[in-house]
Amino acid sequence: MQTVLPLREAAPHIVFRDVGKTYAGAAAPALAAVSFTIGRGERFGIIGRSGAGKSTLLRTINMLERPDAGQVRIDGADIGALDEDGLVALRRRIGMIFQHFNLLSAKTVFDNVALPLRVAGVPRQEISARVGELLDLVGLSSKADAYPAMLSGGQKQRVGIARALVHRPEILLCDEATSALDPETTEQILALLRDINRQLGLTVVLITHDMAVIREACDRVLVLDHGRMVETGPVWQVFAEPQAPATIALLRPLRQRLPEPPHNMETSHRVAALG
Ligand SMILES: Nc1ncnc2c1ncn2[C@@H]1O[C@H](COP(=O)(O)OP(=O)(O)OP(=O)(O)O)[C@@H](O)[C@H]1O
Ligand SMILES: [Mg+2]
Repeated sequence: MQTVLPLREAAPHIVFRDVGKTYAGAAAPALAAVSFTIGRGERFGIIGRSGAGKSTLLRTINMLERPDAGQVRIDGADIGALDEDGLVALRRRIGMIFQHFNLLSAKTVFDNVALPLRVAGVPRQEISARVGELLDLVGLSSKADAYPAMLSGGQKQRVGIARALVHRPEILLCDEATSALDPETTEQILALLRDINRQLGLTVVLITHDMAVIREACDRVLVLDHGRMVETGPVWQVFAEPQAPATIALLRPLRQRLPEPPHNMETSHRVAALG
């Protein structure tokens, strides 16, 4: 008989405590009283309608947005209290990838990946070894000298992933990282993210409008609506029994079943095969 083991609780890596953010001049907060925890090595999804506050939430993890209420803690440290040097060090521990890849068009694949290391003053030989290793990891060793315009969308995102990993981060933030890709390429990028999560033990925090991506790539999911957390839990649970109206609306396309084949389809196939 198969036994179902309970999910082991991962040690908290990122903790949000009553986080709030209102942009200057905005009538409503972008984030309000958001509290949750992400475990080390977890793959954590954030979903919500456009304008729900997803990117704002993600960007508080590397303090590109500063909350005006509450705390974000990483490994127990309040990152809102960091000085400039502390922020630079923090941002090296956190990689980020984007929908439109954010590559420099006048630089080669090698140089795009090498740039953050050059900025950090890493010696040339070390850069060369590290970039080679990363291009190998993302399957782009043969494209080191290519320019972004010569690459497919999937290849560009692989460069984006390699660049995000240069400082050996412990957290990878993905803001709509597969939204510009076709379904097959999305699959390949998700498989790569899965490998990286497993091999490197990275905590992955991912925003997407594509519920199939959450189903494929995340352990737990959080639903934001008008800046508030309306639901969170393991993906299988939230997807099987969504509670909040916002979650139900987001999942509707995924839950709509494909039309049934016509009743006599199977019979006619069999007849054709026999004939
Ligand atoms: N820099 C900014 N200045 C002022 N308002 C902002 C800024 N960035 C976001 N907002 C507002 O904050 C709210 C949340 O925006 P956010 O970009 O976090 O949403 P989102 O869930 O990522 O949306 P989308 O799915 O469209 O990317 C929105 O009302 C948006 O207009
Ligand atoms: Mg966004």
